[in-house]
Amino acid sequence: MKTIKTVKSMQKAMQTERRKGHRIGFVPTMGALHEGHSSLVRKARKLSDIVVVSIFVNPAQFGPSEDLANYPRTLRADKKLLRNLDVEYLFTPGNDEMYPDGFQTWIEFEEITRKLEGKFRPGHFRGVATIVAKLFNAITPDIAVFGQKDAQQAVIIKRMVQDLNMPVKISIAPTVREKSGLAISSRNRYFNAEQLDRASCIYRGLRSGRDLIRSGETDVGKIIKAVRKPIEETKGTITEYVSINDALTLEKLDRIDGKVLISLAVRLDGVRLIDNIAAAPGKSKD
Ligand code: PAF
Repeated sequence: MKTIKTVKSMQKAMQTERRKGHRIGFVPTMGALHEGHSSLVRKARKLSDIVVVSIFVNPAQFGPSEDLANYPRTLRADKKLLRNLDVEYLFTPGNDEMYPDGFQTWIEFEEITRKLEGKFRPGHFRGVATIVAKLFNAITPDIAVFGQKDAQQAVIIKRMVQDLNMPVKISIAPTVREKSGLAISSRNRYFNAEQLDRASCIYRGLRSGRDLIRSGETDVGKIIKAVRKPIEETKGTITEYVSINDALTLEKLDRIDGKVLISLAVRLDGVRLIDNIAAAPGKSKD
């Protein structure tokens, strides 16, 4: 695996790969890699000839009250995991490389970032979209793989690629879960076994909502109540939001009539977790 730190060297390496006729698959990350990231790399591998992973803890997507300094940084272990997955290139630019002096160009959205996560994390998606666009320009991938766990992120990246005619295909990989159903996330490392066990209430809630939709329930209020129940019965939880939205446009819905996304953010003992599940009336498969 070759580690590259500058945009210029990355662009040069990718030009060489392209000349060889290689299809470039890309997985952007902020490091602290886990099985969820491995599944993204495996998907990129299936869809391309060489795989590039980036690790960059992007300051622009952290709010003033979010702890950028304490975000887990585990580069040595990350490199080991990526080598075991036979990743060809690792891109690890520094802050000065990505946001040099004088930087002032940002990607903004109109509607799509004002809801769900965007409401609780103002400026977050502006930071995400801008860094992803910059990474795309450095790596020039044919395919980029994102996780369904960050459902709104996946929707805004697809929107950006379409709106700005970016020549990259966005592929979304399913959420990887613990046996308990808890979505695997870098934040799970803050929990002990007992807390991990309690955190499984989140997926139980999502499943109850999905099952109600499958059985024909159309009343969004009733479904949200069913999602919240196991979560709110669990010690140490604060539900920030539970929302049911159109799976493609993220438009908020009053009644169910088609494929929807149930998404939520819950704090467990102060640690913020997000998760989501897709559901459609009568459908018994995800
Ligand atoms: O999902 C993430 O880890 C980040 O939001 C991303 C896409 C790497 C951009 O910093």
